[in-house]
Formats: sequence, C-alpha cells, structure tokens
Amino acid sequence: QGPCDIYASGGTPCVAAHSTTRALYGSYNGALYQVKRASDGTTKDIGLLSTGGYADAAAQDSFCAGTSCVITVIYDQSGNGNNLTQALKGYWSGPAAGGNDNLANAVEAPVTVGGHEAYGVYIAPGTGYRNNNTKGIATGDQPEGMYAVLDGSHYNGGCCFDYGNAETSSTDTGNGHMEAIYFGNSTGWGYGSGKGPWVMADLENGLFSGVNRGLNSGDPSVSNRFQTAIVKGTANLWSIRAGNAQSGGLSTYYSGARPNVSGYNPMHKEGAIILGIGGDNSNSSAGTFYEGVMTSGYPSDATENAVQANITAVGYSSAATGTGSLTPGSRVSLQATTACCTSDYIRHDDADSKVVISPITSASSAVDKADASWIVRAGLADTSCLSFESANNPGQFLRHSNFELYLNTDNGGSSFAQDATFCPTSGHSGQGFSFQSVNYPTKYLRHYNYTVYIAANGGSNSWDSSTSWAADTSWLVDQPWS
Ligand code: AHR
Repeated sequence: QGPCDIYASGGTPCVAAHSTTRALYGSYNGALYQVKRASDGTTKDIGLLSTGGYADAAAQDSFCAGTSCVITVIYDQSGNGNNLTQALKGYWSGPAAGGNDNLANAVEAPVTVGGHEAYGVYIAPGTGYRNNNTKGIATGDQPEGMYAVLDGSHYNGGCCFDYGNAETSSTDTGNGHMEAIYFGNSTGWGYGSGKGPWVMADLENGLFSGVNRGLNSGDPSVSNRFQTAIVKGTANLWSIRAGNAQSGGLSTYYSGARPNVSGYNPMHKEGAIILGIGGDNSNSSAGTFYEGVMTSGYPSDATENAVQANITAVGYSSAATGTGSLTPGSRVSLQATTACCTSDYIRHDDADSKVVISPITSASSAVDKADASWIVRAGLADTSCLSFESANNPGQFLRHSNFELYLNTDNGGSSFAQDATFCPTSGHSGQGFSFQSVNYPTKYLRHYNYTVYIAANGGSNSWDSSTSWAADTSWLVDQPWS
C-alpha cells in the first residue's frame, strides 16, 4: 500500500502524486522521473526496482556516469498526467535561458529509502518546477489536501519553497489564489514561534502560520531532518499539520477559519501545481523535496495519520550505507601518508570553514572524530567522480576556492558542483588514492603546512611545491572515525 491507496480508502483520492524516491501507490510500476545528461543532451526515465517499490537510482547513476544530470520531469503517478517540468518565466524571471527557472541537479540530494539509494529534488535558489495545465486539481473553493516529505535541514527565508496549488498564469492574481505547503524561515508575512523553519500555508500574498499574518505561536519551529508537512483546505476551514517523517505521528499546528482579509473566503484556487517557487515564480527559496501528493476532497485527520504511518515505515535516512570504501553512500576518513603526518586526517575546523589535517586517535573527542569523517557522494559535477559531504554538517561539502579547501554549504550552482568534485586515481606515491580536481585536472587534493589545497606538481603557489608532492597528494581511505 502507498499513501495514495490510503487517501483513496479515505474517500479523498490523490489527483497528483510526485516522488523521485518511491511509488506512492502499491500498484504503480511506471517511471518516477526523467533525467537529462549534459554530455549529449539525451534523457532517460528512472523507474522502480519493483512494482510499488523504490526508485532504481542505479539506472540514474549509470546513465549519468562521466557527466552531470538534471531532473527534467517529475511524473504524476495518479494517472492525471499532472507532471512537473521546468517552471517557465512568470511575473519573476528565473536564472535560466529565457527567464525560466533552473532544473535540479539529479545527485544533489542523496537519500536512503527502505535501505535503497535514491535522490530527492534539490531546490537551490533559482530552481523551480510547475504545471499550469492540470487535471483534477481543486479550483475555486473546492476542498483539497496535500502532504510533502522534505529535508528539514535545507531551507532559507526567500520566497517561496512551496508545493501545491497556484496560479495558472505564473503571476500573482490576488489573495486566495493559492493553497500550497510552504517550508522555510521567511518572516515577511506570517511566522511561528522560535526562529524557524516553519511549515506554513502559502495562500497568496501571504505565508500563513495561523488565522492571520504575523506571529501565530501555535506553529512551532521544527527541526526534523525529514519533515512531513501537510496543508489542507475546504470552505472556511484549513489546517497545517506536520510530523517527523522518520517516526511518530502528526501534530496539528492550526485548524480553523480562513484569514480574516478579503479574498481568502471563499478561496479562488486556480489548480496549477508548483514545486520550489511561489505562485508568481518568485524563486529565491531553497529546499529539498522527496515525495508529495495533492488530493481531491478534504482528507480526515485519521487518513493523514495513516499516511504518516506509511511514510515513517519507509525508513527515510541520510545515514551512510557502508564504510571504508570510495563507493557513494560509504562513510570514510582520509589519512595522510607523508612520513611527517601519518596520524593526520582531513578534517574541517569548527571555528571556521577551513579544511586541515590534524592527528585523530581513539582518544579524540567525538566532535574531532566527526569532523574527520565524510560521506562519499556521487560527484556533484560528474557522477563517475566523487564529492565528500561532512558527516556532522549535512549538506556541506569539501570544495576548493582559490585552490584552498573549505567546508561549505552546497548552493546548487554549477561552479560549486565543479569545485566540490574530485576524481579518484591510484595514489601518486604508490599508496592509497589521489583525488583530482574535476575543473583543474592538473591539481590534486594535497596537504601543505597542515592545510588542504588542490595542488599541481610544481606551480606558482607555495603549495604546488614538488617536494613531497607525490606523498602529500596520496591518501589512505580508512574506516570512518565516526
Ligand atoms: O504568498 C506569498 C507569495 O507572494 C506567493 O508565493 C507569490 O505569488 C507572491 O509573491
């Protein structure tokens, strides 16, 4: 059984069902999404490992090997054809050609579902998906429900990381013309208690945390790595509900009347579907989407509670799937091999974003051990190479800037992806591995004076020194310290 089977039993069937990680019906056996690769511009549908099962991410990995891929289509599993594709220029322009929005990098949001590798939809600012010509989605004041499973650690305050019902014109047509889930820490309209992020409803010209704009303290900040977010609405009644997508039930943060401002009662829903943007194609927000649906009819709390139980049973996890090897998903520590430094490991510094080598032993603190542990990821710019995500700072990757290594948050941009992608080769000294920068192929990860750089064998920077270059660029891939 999938979430949409549960909604159907509750009398509020899915009219759109989107996921890059799994089937949302027990009987679904079609494609989940489509990717396009940079090398030759060809596309491929990514399907399931089995009927009603999980995404065949390995098919994506092999199609995208040696190049990079973007997600071009997120298919609607409901049979209504409500697919999501690149959001085109609206009132606001996006950064892509023609003022359209960017498409998401297909490997930027790795995840484990039911023990299987999968990828979410990583929305960096400027990225967005939309369908302005839908079938079966609520219009006017018709009742509907929706949920989404999101990365609760990836958000910002920009407008508006939404999933749900919006204008068919990609412009702001007035109060009540949207009804979508919002996730982030925008305080421009409404907000909840604490510092955010909050699950709110985007009803157009306002992110609502409760009955009216401003503070509604019943809507708490949430901090789950995997967040279930729910918005539903019917005649003069709407609700915000949410929970931890890994365990436990849902809480109701608001359920009551429509905002007491003209335009919201009755609503004027238009029935387009947006992901990662606002109704007018505002596109400065960030977030990550794994799955979500929209229903016809106002689902009961009991139906949603059963959907939440289905979600928690999936076992969404960001944990590594192995240890000690350079396979994506594995957790490793990277040990220096130069005679000076064989007790030293690549680690990030807590005080700043610098990346250094320092000794780690079994007596080191838990924080030091975690700072020296990395999750191997498919290369953000080339999936036949690798990226290294911090074990204790999710979403932050080893990247070079001015040839020095830093730990920075992935901003989704293609420069960041290049700066964070390294191709493993056998170690220059004959020991272990060397890691070649994908955008500066003469340069490899190197320690010099206990700082980590990308360095060529002889060059203009001090760290390009040929002395011990081969040893300084050779690393052992070890079991992770944490
Ligand atoms: O309601 C918040 C935002 O305001 C909407 O998403 C957008 O259409 C408008 O700019």
